[in-house]
This record gives sequence, C-alpha cells and structure tokens, in this order.
Amino acid sequence: MAIETAPFPLAPTADAGKMKEFGRYVSISSVSLVANATSRIVKDVHPGKLTPEQLEEVKELLYKHGALLFPNVVVTPEEQYALTKAFDPQSENYGHGNNKTGETKKSILHPDLKTIPRVPQVQLIGNGTVYNHEGLAEAKLKHPHHKTFHANAISDEDEEKGYTRFYRWHIDAALYDLEPPKVTTLYGLKVPRGPSQICRYDDGTGDELPVPLGTTAFVCGATMFDILPPELKSLAVRSKVRYAPHPYVWMAPARSNTTGLGLLTENKELALSELPEWSEDKIKVLPMLWKNPVTGLLHYQVHPSGAAAIEVAPLPEGANREGALYPDGATITDLKEVRDLLYKMQRPGIAPSLVYAHDWNELDFVLFHNRGVLHSVVGAFKPDQVRAFHQCNLAASDTPAGPSEEDVKKYA
Ligand SMILES: [Fe+2]
Repeated sequence: MAIETAPFPLAPTADAGKMKEFGRYVSISSVSLVANATSRIVKDVHPGKLTPEQLEEVKELLYKHGALLFPNVVVTPEEQYALTKAFDPQSENYGHGNNKTGETKKSILHPDLKTIPRVPQVQLIGNGTVYNHEGLAEAKLKHPHHKTFHANAISDEDEEKGYTRFYRWHIDAALYDLEPPKVTTLYGLKVPRGPSQICRYDDGTGDELPVPLGTTAFVCGATMFDILPPELKSLAVRSKVRYAPHPYVWMAPARSNTTGLGLLTENKELALSELPEWSEDKIKVLPMLWKNPVTGLLHYQVHPSGAAAIEVAPLPEGANREGALYPDGATITDLKEVRDLLYKMQRPGIAPSLVYAHDWNELDFVLFHNRGVLHSVVGAFKPDQVRAFHQCNLAASDTPAGPSEEDVKKYA
C-alpha cells in the first residue's frame, strides 16, 4: 500500500506554482478499510521502523519533494542514525567527521554541535541548557544568532519588535576531505513556542518574510537553477566550485552579507598558511549543479560561504556564443568576483515566495535532501527558551553527480 502523504501548507507569501511540489507530510498512520468495514487496520509509517518497501517509497518521495515530515513520532538516536544511513549504506561518520567538536576549535561550527555519546553520528543542537539528555549530564546549547556572523545586525530595538534574519544559507557538508551527505534528519524534541518573527533581507530590496519562531528555512536547488536566465544556466552547467581547505576555519574571521547568502569580501579570511594542516588532494571541487537521482533535475547546490574559486569549462562545440559568459572557459580566483557571481545566481532562489519556513512542533521528524536543497537557521531565542533537536547527516560514500553530457548540450 502506498504511503499516504499530504502537501506542506503553502504560506500566503509562497509562489504556489513553484512551491507545490516542495515537501510532503508522511502520515504516521495510514488507515485502510478491510472487508469488515467496522474494523480498520492502522499501518504505521514510522521513520525508525520502515519496511524495505516503505524505505524505497520514502527515498523516492524525498528525492521528488526535497523534504519529508513525520509528525508526532518518537525516534531514538539509534533509529535516526539507521534511517540516515539507509540512504547511503556505506556511509559511516557524521558529515563533519565524528567527535570533531573538540578539535578544530577555530571552526565556526564548533559552538553549535554536541555529540550524543552513544551514537556519535547524532548531534544535539538547540538553545538553553539541557540536563540528563541521552547520556549528557548537562549541555549548554546556543541557537546561532545572526549578530555573531553577519557584518551588521538588526538593532536591539527592531529585534524586540520581532525582526530577524536568515543566519546562514548552506548545505550540511564539511566541504573538505569528506563528501557532502545525501540527507539530513532533524528531530525536534523540545520546541519553545513564541510569537512569529519577520525575517528581513536588508539588501535594499525591501524583501521580508513572516516566519514562525526558530524556523528552519528551505529553498529548492532545482528551482534556484530553473529560474535563472539562459546565460547563467549555461554558466552553471559548465562550472565547478572549488572550496577552501578547512573552509569553516578559513572563513571564521569573515562576516556575512545581510541575507546570510555568502560572505563579504573584506580580506578577513585566514591565509592558507594559518589553517590546520591540509593537502591539495582533500580540497573539494564540486559541480555547481547536482543531478537528482530520481527526477534527473539539476539542483543548484553551492555553499556560498566556503567557495574559493569557480572553474568554468568552455562552451561545447556548436553552442551559441552570443551573450555567453566565459565562452572559452575560465578559472575565477578573485574572491569578490567569485562571490558576486554566486550571489547573482543564488539570490533569486531565496526570494520570499520560494522559501519554505517550517513551523516546528515537538516530535516533528524532518528528513531533507541535503544534495537538493539549501537551508538556514532563522530567528533568535532568549536564553531561557530551551530547544533541543537531534541532527544527523553522514559524510557520503560518493561525490555528487553533476550535469550529464545531454544536460550540458541542453543548457550551455
Ligand atoms: Fe544545517
């Protein structure tokens, strides 16, 4: 029996046409009538206890819709790890490597992660102090606040009024040595309620988006690509992004633009000689577009903050050169040029009408296609607003597939 699903609710701000396929609720119990109409069989679709058939169905649903929500389920860290691993059975370690929280202290990710001792691939994230949690006597958690990352922050006065920002648009990935995880699972255990906020872009467009408190915002990488004009599609299909070695250490002193979509270029990045030991062969050079294994669509998947260079292949033979960018190919290493170009290509994809902002309820279990969406933490909590989530993603066993030869011919 097919798993029952329902579309995610469309926000009044959403572009219904472009957002209608994004996200699906997976019913925890799908009910089917048997011969005796008075009795009902309740078939559980529990993310930790999927049958092999259900798992295949869930995989297909995820790659089609980008994110799945199982509401009101109790999921152990072991079950969460097992489901995450089921998407890539050969994967083993947390997306940034296991037990990394004590090392690479300079990394900007360091304060956000606490490992569950029993299942080191699962991280405890959230806000406030959590006691006696899955073997952790006391965990002090801090919801990332944009003022610690953006070059300028919303004033205290405006924050009081409920204004906030996207913290950082990203893909969950180490972007050095390890391969980007295929999926991420996020499980909301403690979810403080509070008034909704208004996420402001503050980039001169006047764009803003009403969001639930502490939402996780998602955009679809396939839409981000689809809405580009032909010359940028041609560039995207021919381009690879080279990430900095130890990108989160490298970028630590740099500050973000107001949309959380990349960094300002103020020459604040660490010099390569200041980084922890690194080697050329572990540097990640990844296609700008990642091919969806089920739909075949191309998803614009770039972590803008970690990008250091763009490698553009020349136009294929016979392609129309008129209006083409970098028709003979190029290696762009000027950081400002790299970031300006990425911003131009990615900013349309985070327009308010294209963002899904999840309204977390306790015991929501969310599975998202980390190779098909970008996401961001949003909002601000007060220290006494305790939030506890379990997060899991696993460094993948393969590298993301880029555009096929046909794709290049089609778009270049
Ligand atoms: Fe993330």
